[in-house]
Amino acid sequence: MSKTRIYEVAKELGMNSKELMEFLEKELNISVKSHMSTIEEETVQAIKDLIEEERQAKKEVKKQKEPPKEKKKTPEKIKVKEKLEEEPVEEKPVREVTITTQEITLDILAKRLELEQNDIIKDMFMKGIVLRPGQKLDKTMAEDISMSYNVILNFEIEKEEAEEKEEDVEVILAKKWNDIYEKEKDKLAPRPPVVTIMGHVDHGKTTLLDKIRNTHVADKEEGGITQSIGAYQIEYNDQKITFIDTPGHEAFTEMRARGAQVTDIVVLIIAADDGVMPQTIEAYNHAKSANVPIIVAINKIDKPNANIELTKQQMVSKLNLIPEDWGGNTITIPISAKTGKGIDELLEMIILVAEMQEIRCIPEGKARAVIIESRVDKAMGPLGTVIVKDGILKVGDDFISGSTYGRVRRMINDRGESLKRAVPSTPVQVLGFNDVPNTHSIMYVVDSKEEARALAEKIKEKEEEKSKGPAKRHMRLEDIMQK
Ligand code: GTP
Ligand code: MG
Repeated sequence: MSKTRIYEVAKELGMNSKELMEFLEKELNISVKSHMSTIEEETVQAIKDLIEEERQAKKEVKKQKEPPKEKKKTPEKIKVKEKLEEEPVEEKPVREVTITTQEITLDILAKRLELEQNDIIKDMFMKGIVLRPGQKLDKTMAEDISMSYNVILNFEIEKEEAEEKEEDVEVILAKKWNDIYEKEKDKLAPRPPVVTIMGHVDHGKTTLLDKIRNTHVADKEEGGITQSIGAYQIEYNDQKITFIDTPGHEAFTEMRARGAQVTDIVVLIIAADDGVMPQTIEAYNHAKSANVPIIVAINKIDKPNANIELTKQQMVSKLNLIPEDWGGNTITIPISAKTGKGIDELLEMIILVAEMQEIRCIPEGKARAVIIESRVDKAMGPLGTVIVKDGILKVGDDFISGSTYGRVRRMINDRGESLKRAVPSTPVQVLGFNDVPNTHSIMYVVDSKEEARALAEKIKEKEEEKSKGPAKRHMRLEDIMQK
């Protein structure tokens, strides 16, 4: 069945779109959204019939020179009828003008209509509508004003949507990576696990990490001023494991919210002489919400007052984690970060869990990395420690990271060595940022310095807008799940 646009029908009937829309609503119970909506030929015919009926009735009345019979009519019906009879349509040509919904203010509309803003204000005033210069108009208002000048507004919704999507460069980039993951499923390769140690204050996180590092970092003799870059990689039984030294619980969730979860496994450390403490619970909750496997390390078992059994009981009662040897499925390893007891077993378990996790990456191509630490160095300028998630980060790569950007000038690993390339899961300190990057933001390698600058500026603008403007719902990266 053929369809006709409201404004076309209205024109044919000598009404404006709004009147026709009201008429349809009242008389035929049909609601239409805009003058661009379509109605069926059948409906058009029904309207015509209705109007014709009215006309005939009127003629009859005239013939009999009698006053017309008082029919039950809605004010709208009378209005439409009067309009038909008394106001023959001016045969002004109807024009169409395109406008985006984001930009409707009176001055812009005036320009689009090729009219003076003041003339519109005057004309509308005569119709009882008070407008002020530059006033923001809603769609219907803009349509009504335009219709009174015989202009049909076409709203460019597609363009608007495109702009909406463009809003968040980081969202686009995250999506792009999701797509690459989808497309290159078969080409994904394993990468070393990234492990974060979490736990209550003083339960031995740093001591454990130091111990692991001292025991398992090779060739310390040469080149080696050991750098503290917030993360490091060890090798155990020919398998690499990356550890993050400075988790900070906030950081943990923030990284997750940005879409590239940096941690694959959490080691939750609980001191056997202190048991489950508030921050143990907090850490556990973060790990749980990030949906990463948790290995419990019960530490300080060398201490005389260590109570492994009590700690396990608390794991059950306070965290609802049941140790494997109690019939549950939480890998629980008693260790001493001080003496080194149990640490090998812990590392073996990390590797085992990692294998079960199938931790994968895109092994080639442009890199994407997570900033885990940043600062300014007096001599070297802004520095960011990153862990490469995908691709290969190379010296000379142009990149963005939130609203900062730059070119990789130098990369230094946790052993103080300069690297030309960093493969997935490698932690490196990067020199070459234009400014200090936000910790936990994602670094994306792009095609050129110009692109990097342009994207970073766009992000900056948006950030400034967001901090100024009213809260608007933006798509969060969290909403777009990715590996
Ligand atoms: P924060 O970073 O402050 O949260 O503490 P942390 O969890 O890093 O604890 P850290 O490694 O600094 O250890 C706290 C204290 O416990 C230090 O004095 C360590 O020497 C001691 N310690 C850590 N592990 C062990 C252990 O296995 N046995 C004994 N006896 N002491 C330990
Ligand atoms: Mg510490």
